[in-house]
Amino acid sequence: MKVTNRKRVLVTGGAGFLGSHLCERLLREGCDVLCADNFYSGAKDNIVQFIDNPCFELIRHDITFPLYVEVDEIFNMACPASPIHYQFDPVQTTKTSVHGAINVLGLAKRTKAKIFQASTSEIYGDPQVHPQSEDYWGHVNPIGIRSCYDEGKRCAETLFFDYYRQHRVRIKVARIFNTFGPRMHPNDGRVVSNFIVQALKGDDITLYGDGSQTRSFCYVDDLIEGILRLMDTEDNFTGPVNLGNPAEFTIKELAESVLQLTGSRSRLVFRPLPSDDPRQRQPDIRLAREKLGWEPTVPLREGLKLTIAYFDKLLAEGTGRAL
Ligand SMILES: NC(=O)c1ccc[n+]([C@@H]2O[C@H](COP(=O)([O-])OP(=O)(O)OC[C@H]3O[C@@H](n4cnc5c(N)ncnc54)[C@H](O)[C@@H]3O)[C@@H](O)[C@H]2O)c1
Repeated sequence: MKVTNRKRVLVTGGAGFLGSHLCERLLREGCDVLCADNFYSGAKDNIVQFIDNPCFELIRHDITFPLYVEVDEIFNMACPASPIHYQFDPVQTTKTSVHGAINVLGLAKRTKAKIFQASTSEIYGDPQVHPQSEDYWGHVNPIGIRSCYDEGKRCAETLFFDYYRQHRVRIKVARIFNTFGPRMHPNDGRVVSNFIVQALKGDDITLYGDGSQTRSFCYVDDLIEGILRLMDTEDNFTGPVNLGNPAEFTIKELAESVLQLTGSRSRLVFRPLPSDDPRQRQPDIRLAREKLGWEPTVPLREGLKLTIAYFDKLLAEGTGRAL
């Protein structure tokens, strides 16, 4: 029985970078938020400001095990997202995507909750078409060091669509492209946080390859808006839908913007490209524009300024996650 009029929302991975922003936005919109996280790559610092909010509840839980709660909506964000984290324990990464998907989909089936899956542009692998639209099946190495993440997420998508076809579970799948913003992990090797922390500390800025590989970077607030709009679509719209910023920059251009905005005197240094690193990645967001009326609004430099301010404070305080 439901004794609250508030929407009861489960956010798995709610103590992570994206999950914590999602919890914040859902709380602002008047939802009861249940955050389930095993703190594999997330941090209490990300959610400490919600702990006193009576509409927020935190449980330490690993989604590779079933969870029995009563909810109206589920956002499945749990999964380490950076190569350093997901390659640390690749078997656990695949389990989180695959067993985790089975568990949350089972929960959605029982409670009749609508369920969102945080899928990824990595399901396109090292793409042979640019930009990538949702009908591209990808070019993925099944046995490489990134496969635990890429193939795990691909299998999770399969499970979502099979639960939709077989059990009529209301699913929403977004393929998220590189996103950045405050509360990214400072040492997880992701390019934006890496460059900012290196620049603020005056360390060398490490570029892999010659820095000509391109990426598109979406600011976190834009992404969360896209996720919520997707969740609000009609039940017959399942996705997958790309969410990301189509503006493409080379890694070298990103490093130069960070140097300029931080006023840092760090040097750029070049290292060999890791295996399976995609040369280019750019979302085709025509479907998101058409179905969600969504597109990113925060320019890269504006997002960088807000992210730099966050890391600057973190470094000045010298508290929180190890820097
Ligand atoms: N940030 C991006 O650019 C990006 C891009 C594409 C997809 N995604 C997806 O979005 C989601 C969130 O990514 P993020 O950047 O916030 O990463 P993150 O590592 O900051 O957050 C993931 C959260 O999931 C938790 N978690 C991991 N395994 C778990 C498990 N077995 N049980 C419970 N909790 C678990 C972690 O502790 C962490 O709090 C992930 O599913 C990721 O694959 C992110």
